Amino acid sequence: MSIFRKKSITDMLAQSQQKGLKRSLGAFDLTLLGIGAIIGTGIFVLTGVVAAKDAGPALILSFILSGIACAFAAFCYAEFASTVPIAGSVYTYTYATLGEVFAFLIGWDLMLEYLLATSAVATGWSAYFQSLLAGFNVYLPTSLTSAPGAGHGGIINLPAVLIILLITTLLSRGIRESARVNNIMVIIKLTVIVLFIVAGVWYVKPSNWSPFTPFGFEGIVTGAATVFFAYIGFDAVATAAEEVKRPQRDLPLGIIWSLAICTFLYIVVSLILTGIVPYTQLNVADPVSFALTFVGQNTIAGLISVGAIAGITTVLLVMLFAQVRVSYAMSRDGLLPRMLSSVHPTLKTPFKNTWITGFVAAFIAGFIDLETLAHLVNMGTLSAFSLVAIAVLVLRKTHPTLERAFKAPFVPVLPILTVLFCLYLMISLPGITWISFVIWLTIGALVYFVYARKRSTLNKS
Ligand code: ALA
Repeated sequence: MSIFRKKSITDMLAQSQQKGLKRSLGAFDLTLLGIGAIIGTGIFVLTGVVAAKDAGPALILSFILSGIACAFAAFCYAEFASTVPIAGSVYTYTYATLGEVFAFLIGWDLMLEYLLATSAVATGWSAYFQSLLAGFNVYLPTSLTSAPGAGHGGIINLPAVLIILLITTLLSRGIRESARVNNIMVIIKLTVIVLFIVAGVWYVKPSNWSPFTPFGFEGIVTGAATVFFAYIGFDAVATAAEEVKRPQRDLPLGIIWSLAICTFLYIVVSLILTGIVPYTQLNVADPVSFALTFVGQNTIAGLISVGAIAGITTVLLVMLFAQVRVSYAMSRDGLLPRMLSSVHPTLKTPFKNTWITGFVAAFIAGFIDLETLAHLVNMGTLSAFSLVAIAVLVLRKTHPTLERAFKAPFVPVLPILTVLFCLYLMISLPGITWISFVIWLTIGALVYFVYARKRSTLNKS
């Protein structure tokens, strides 16, 4: 029972061929799927806090820095996804390259990404929902709209809890992320962003950009570690591997294009946002629509709130879905309780898994505030990105002849830079995030040694 035993890539590829999920997605759908998962709470909510507290008008530099780290990671993801196009994403890649114990820990770590991201994104959804209600002069009591930790005297964030339960109901009933619904939502989301840019650019006062770096370089890096959250999601494209027509070609295109488009939009939005509102006043929950209210464009601000709510909903859907998929895959391999991979007899969905995941995510969203959650999500994701980069290096050594439809450029320099960049951003996250992360991984290691290792299906072969 070696803890470093690996699943064979050839076996997995053969398995994925026979099982035959319907292969219907192309590069264009994947790009929209990526954008659907990426643009959400990060740009619509976190930009404000980061501008006010960390980076000031240099917010744009935080976005560029984080964007570079993501671009490097995206190339590594693209190589892996085109070589091993199998659902389960980085969990599966690690199982094939670094061995079971690392695969388990990365799966455990991915929960920090997808599960907590669901909760975090719901908190952002709640903020925009409230700002929309406020537009109609409806105000919910603070005790019911804010987590206890947020410092606003809240007891529970009820809208966040309710939206997660709603999404859980949809997912458990077998809603396919139908490309059409997703595409419509993405178009609404992109329209709202472009609307912000076009309406806002006229109100930019260059004087708001000075001082440009009120918190120095350190602030820019801390900001980058937080706004990193806004980019998360392009990796979820890889989980669709078994439903893509030509995965070798289309997965890399989907991953890289969705990231490129979002990076461009983020840079423009952050520039305009800090140009309209003095950064000191941006510490609000709905900065993008606030900026337009700030200059008296209330109607457009209202439209942006509606668009943001629709847009953030798709992020929720994809994140919850991705979480269920990863724990489903781990359970199928025997590493988590069997119940998590049981399929509902008539609905044909992992019904129990979806509800358990939904309840946990809803509970967390009700009681923990956005910033704390976002930091943990970033920590989990940055460590996953580093592992993908390492796995690319390992796979080039161990399987040099495996067919690679897409090759990351400048190997080994690019994967090494990816790891360094990710570590640098991780170091910039608060100490409490590190402590929580270490505790989480320690629990994971215990579960692996006490439970998973003995139950792994690899014991049978
Ligand atoms: N990138 C996603 C968002 O910002 C998680 O909501």
